[in-house]
Amino acid sequence: MIEVKNLSKRFGPKLAVDNVSFSVERGEVLGFLGPNGAGKSTTMRMVTGYLPPSAGSVSIAGVDAVGSPIEAKRKIGYLPESAPLYADMSVSAFLRFVAELRGLSGAEKQRAVDKSIETCFLQPVRQQSIDTLSKGYRHRTCLAQSILHDPEILILDEPTDGLDPNQKQEVRNLIKRMGEEKAILFSTHILEEVDAACTRAIIIDQGRVVADGTPDELKARSKGAGRITLRISGASGADARVALEALSGVKEVLETSSGETSFAGQVVPGKAAAGLSETVFNLCKDRGWVIEELRVEEGRLDDMFRELTVADTKLADAGRPAA
Ligand SMILES: Nc1ncnc2c1ncn2[C@@H]1O[C@H](COP(=O)(O)OP(=O)(O)OP(=O)(O)O)[C@@H](O)[C@H]1O
Ligand SMILES: [Mg+2]
Repeated sequence: MIEVKNLSKRFGPKLAVDNVSFSVERGEVLGFLGPNGAGKSTTMRMVTGYLPPSAGSVSIAGVDAVGSPIEAKRKIGYLPESAPLYADMSVSAFLRFVAELRGLSGAEKQRAVDKSIETCFLQPVRQQSIDTLSKGYRHRTCLAQSILHDPEILILDEPTDGLDPNQKQEVRNLIKRMGEEKAILFSTHILEEVDAACTRAIIIDQGRVVADGTPDELKARSKGAGRITLRISGASGADARVALEALSGVKEVLETSSGETSFAGQVVPGKAAAGLSETVFNLCKDRGWVIEELRVEEGRLDDMFRELTVADTKLADAGRPAA
């Protein structure tokens, strides 16, 4: 549904998007992650045909977005970053206006407006003038605009930005539900959202794709993945540590808190660490230690994000000449 190939965008000397390629199928929700200024919004603007690329191609359900922008735009719903709206219109007048732009009229138009108002929880403010709306409602009005014509493809730039926790949750559920039959690309800074709503995620940094995979695959690549978090009582911290370090497959033992009769920390697996959690469990059992917690860490998206993006920033800093 969305096919992006070798897309680049240059603003003067700045290469904001650098040779980005990805695709989104129907039934997929692709999360777009990256630090501020990474190039997420710029990429989305090119995918929606709002901004011409410096190089590369965008195909929207088989239509070339650069060569046939109007046909491509018909298939897309777009929530831009700053939620632009006509401030002097009421919510329902604005949505009726957008419905007309989308070629809807009569009962069909009214149905589309009512449905988007309901879906985006705008009933309480439907007659209110947009310039008097709170930020969250303004954002939701813009979201309603993007889904009004029931597009097959949705491009949502930070759809939960500025929403309260309940609304964030509702919008995530909405994205997940809509993603079952549409192709959705959405950007976010909230990593839980990737777990909650995405089938796949891409991390971009300084204009380049640095990771692409399912949320579980990305988590498994983080440094903490596979570590065993262990909390026991009935052994001194020092004894537990020595015994754990002696197990085969253990690279190191990181203590977080220990005492005369307790140990808490993480066991870091080395090479050939298959079945390590069972080995740790058996050690505790054999020694008669009481296991209060034993858990294999699945890895964390925020660790993965930091490892990929902060590391880059440090490298960039290191490469700069001293002031
Ligand atoms: N019209 C423009 N002219 C010049 N530079 C621009 C323009 N639009 C974006 N940029 C630059 O391109 C880079 C990428 O910006 P972009 O808005 O795509 O980042 P982003 O990943 O969406 O960041 P954020 O998380 O802050 O929204 C930034 O360095 C930005 O300053
Ligand atoms: Mg942005």
